[in-house]
Amino acid sequence: ETILVDTRPGTGENALRYGWITLNRPKALNALNDTLMDELGAALLAFDADDGIACIVVTGSEKAFAAGADIAMMQPFDFPNAYRKGLISRNWDTIRQVRKPIIAAVSGFALGGGCEVAMGCDFIIAADNAKFGQPEIKLGIIPGAGGTQRLPRAVGKSKAMDLALTGRMMDAVEAERAGLVSRVVPLADLHAEADKAAQAMCGYSLLALMATKECVNRAYEAPLTEGLLFERRLFHALFSSSDQKEGMGAFLEKRAPHFTHR
Ligand code: CAA
Repeated sequence: ETILVDTRPGTGENALRYGWITLNRPKALNALNDTLMDELGAALLAFDADDGIACIVVTGSEKAFAAGADIAMMQPFDFPNAYRKGLISRNWDTIRQVRKPIIAAVSGFALGGGCEVAMGCDFIIAADNAKFGQPEIKLGIIPGAGGTQRLPRAVGKSKAMDLALTGRMMDAVEAERAGLVSRVVPLADLHAEADKAAQAMCGYSLLALMATKECVNRAYEAPLTEGLLFERRLFHALFSSSDQKEGMGAFLEKRAPHFTHR
């Protein structure tokens, strides 16, 4: 199996569970081939469709989150083939369809397509041994799964250009300073930290989680006025949920909320 799939319980009354996906091609540093990306996409969609799941964690091994798209798989491709078969597009776009939050828990190398998969998640928690980069330039190509678009949005033009043009790696401290990752933790604590974040989300209203993700993503697609309007509409819409009554009622009654995700 190129990925391992599991579910874990959240904390809190009536908490949902969360999905845990481990990229698992250790001998190739989790190089991303078609089989792995098919399995990853299928697992993400299955969790997204499962009413008992609130969010998803994607992780790799200590040594590598993923060292990129599989170079051995790509080397023989010519243009007509790459174009017709949708090389690293067909099964790489699946992650964008997922409406529940996805945390990337990154240790070791997150290079090329590995960095792009991490950036396709909603936020990145990095171990202190994490290394990020877009080294495609060294292979005579460019990033092909969003690196030239998502990296500048995350870290700004100068650092994105620096990384993609020189192919150098950036460590976890630099990645956090630049805004690519939300927090850096000791390697030994990485999974516990991701667990804690996922468990917290499992205790919240699934409707509110999904609406939050949809609105934040809107910030990258729409002009500010449209984004603000989109947010206001969803904000108003959530007042039709029983979770809004429960969340605010529980606060006022000084007790823990009991969300039913409705
Ligand atoms: N594709 C295929 N195999 C890979 C791979 C990749 N991206 N990355 C590592 N491997 C394989 C190696 O070939 C090696 O296999 P063998 O044991 O059979 O020789 C095994 O994983 C271990 O790798 P190394 O011996 O190289 O390990 P290292 O610790 O010496 O170096 C590394 C680690 C610096 C990450 C190095 O493996 C490396 O530079 N990997 C390639 C990184 C890269 O260029 N990624 C971008 C790929 S292109 C892309 O992703 C396009 C896109 O935008 C989607």
